[in-house]
Amino acid sequence: MIKALLRILTVLVGPERTHSLVVRVLRVVGHLPAGRWMLRKIYAVEHPSLEREVFGMRFKNPIGLAAGFDRNAEAYREFSAMGFGFVEIGTVTPRPQSGNPRPRVFRLNADRAIVNRTGLANKGLDYVMARLRKKPEGVIVGCNIGKNTITPVEEQAADYLKTFRNLYQHADYFTVNISYNTTFKEYVPQSRESVIEILQPLFEFRRGQDQYRPILLKISPDLPDEVVDLMADIMIDTPLDGIVATNATTSREGFVSLDTKLDEVGHGAMSGAPLTKRAIEVVARVYARAKGTYPIIGVGGLMTPEDIKAMLDAGATLVQLYTGFVYEGMSLVRKTCKMMIAEAEAAAQPAEVATQPTEAALAQPTEDIQPEK
Ligand code: FNR
Repeated sequence: MIKALLRILTVLVGPERTHSLVVRVLRVVGHLPAGRWMLRKIYAVEHPSLEREVFGMRFKNPIGLAAGFDRNAEAYREFSAMGFGFVEIGTVTPRPQSGNPRPRVFRLNADRAIVNRTGLANKGLDYVMARLRKKPEGVIVGCNIGKNTITPVEEQAADYLKTFRNLYQHADYFTVNISYNTTFKEYVPQSRESVIEILQPLFEFRRGQDQYRPILLKISPDLPDEVVDLMADIMIDTPLDGIVATNATTSREGFVSLDTKLDEVGHGAMSGAPLTKRAIEVVARVYARAKGTYPIIGVGGLMTPEDIKAMLDAGATLVQLYTGFVYEGMSLVRKTCKMMIAEAEAAAQPAEVATQPTEAALAQPTEDIQPEK
């Protein structure tokens, strides 16, 4: 019912307004007495077998909300109550920025995809810091950080550091977003030196702190394989803690629908079903390169519980959803959690059978069991 309502709303007012409305409604519900308790009761699936220990933190399940959805940290408590194992807020830049002109988010129903060219619109560091001050215990929030569009490339490291140091006490982990919307010919660091130049000041700042905050790098699915390997090598050789793979793609591969009028949509980064294969491929590549020793957050085109399973099987420790959540709502998280619980219970079954004598075994006369001579 809610899904149908949101679909109608999307047609009437567009995807971006619908998205803002969802965030606003959730905030209102969160402010009601027992509002979050109600969301938990209605949506969340909880079970010990879903829990994951990653980066020294206990995640109640491995499915998170990807960056861009709660970009200003306005409803992360509600998303967590509804059953997401964690929420990545942002991309946050030091100063607020309005992004590209609207319309800039397009829903491609026939392809189960979204094209966006939001241009990292966000309310800036100060606004987000105020929101994160209210973060309760037990809600895991990652903070995705980026540079302001107007900041020249030579000064970008200072942008990342500013957001990082100001939000350091308020977020549980940080994701360094170097995978911009390349359609706008934004500079995407692809060399070892350019990435290290951004990361090094963050490592140095962290060294002086009492608390440890994991730092991850979010990469583009459009990187050539050798550059994906290079990013994995940076993770292996530096204090980088993990990789988030992947952001949306600017490639049009796998984009097959004849219903979508490309001229209307124009350029932008695509997410959803056309991205599934490449995102899983990138995660598998990073996993193989790092020999499975580093956490990877797998994101991109996870539209069904089977996609999520395939991503976890490819080596992801945790996963994130954006477009799958837009199309399927919380039912995607619920169905996947239920599937994982059933699998965990089935896996536990033979062990129990093996350790407990069956009725048939108990019926056997004991003399039949002779010690070997
Ligand atoms: C995004 N994504 C994104 N990523 C990021 O690192 N910072 C951001 O601000 C945003 N903003 C954003 C807005 C919109 C409208 C969309 C659809 C996506 C990318 C997102 O986090 C994710 O990496 C990709 O969308 C791929 O996952 P899905 O959508 O295929 O599940």
